Amino acid sequence: MVKTRVIETNEGIQSEVTVEMFDVFARCMRDKGWNGVDGMIASGIKGGDVLEIGPGPGYVGLELARKLHPDSLTGCEISPAMLRFARKNAADYGIAARYVQGNCMEMPFEDESFDSVISNGSLHEWENPIRAFNEIFRVLRTGGRYCITDLRRDVHPIKKTMVYYSTSPKEMRPGFLTSLNAAYTLSEMTELLRNSALCNASVTRDFFGLCIAGEK
Ligand SMILES: C[S@@+](CC[C@H](N)C(=O)[O-])C[C@H]1O[C@@H](n2cnc3c(N)ncnc32)[C@H](O)[C@@H]1O
Repeated sequence: MVKTRVIETNEGIQSEVTVEMFDVFARCMRDKGWNGVDGMIASGIKGGDVLEIGPGPGYVGLELARKLHPDSLTGCEISPAMLRFARKNAADYGIAARYVQGNCMEMPFEDESFDSVISNGSLHEWENPIRAFNEIFRVLRTGGRYCITDLRRDVHPIKKTMVYYSTSPKEMRPGFLTSLNAAYTLSEMTELLRNSALCNASVTRDFFGLCIAGEK
């Protein structure tokens, strides 16, 4: 029996200290190759003008850009503190990414602005995923692709324990559990997508999460 979903935050991670800790955590995930980038490329993300939703400190989009050399990389991030880290990290990578403060439920971009939309680990924080999915459809060009990866609440307890104890720095462990409790199951996600403009998306389970992918 899967526990009921518990909302984590609707405003993203805001406090500078927590964000600094998250930057260390996200860098560890990058170094272990556990940030969803290879899965995004395998799902058909090719490059062009790429939008990343909820980039946090930016490593996912920056690693993708390092591999795919897109025409441009834009991040839409709700937290000003995260934006500061993303801009610093992009400068360290030597990648001219553009990070914009915005809410993915009402994105500050024209219709059909991007060839690819990616996101990792952010979806469980979105107040209204259907609105965000409709926004993704709106800002994508025809033929553009999206890939959204996130945690999965119904992950096996053994995997949960394994990942909990391998989460570093260990101060991030309580946050990992609240994120997991806020994440969706495959059937919940299938139902949300069915009621959105991304109704043709495929949703698959991977080791620890969900991968939502498709083409406009
Ligand atoms: C758990 S972090 C994941 C960061 C990064 N994608 C990664 O994988 O390391 C989730 C990020 O999504 C952002 N976020 C949450 N809700 C958002 C929204 N409605 N619009 C844009 N960004 C949002 C948070 O501020 C945070 O930076």
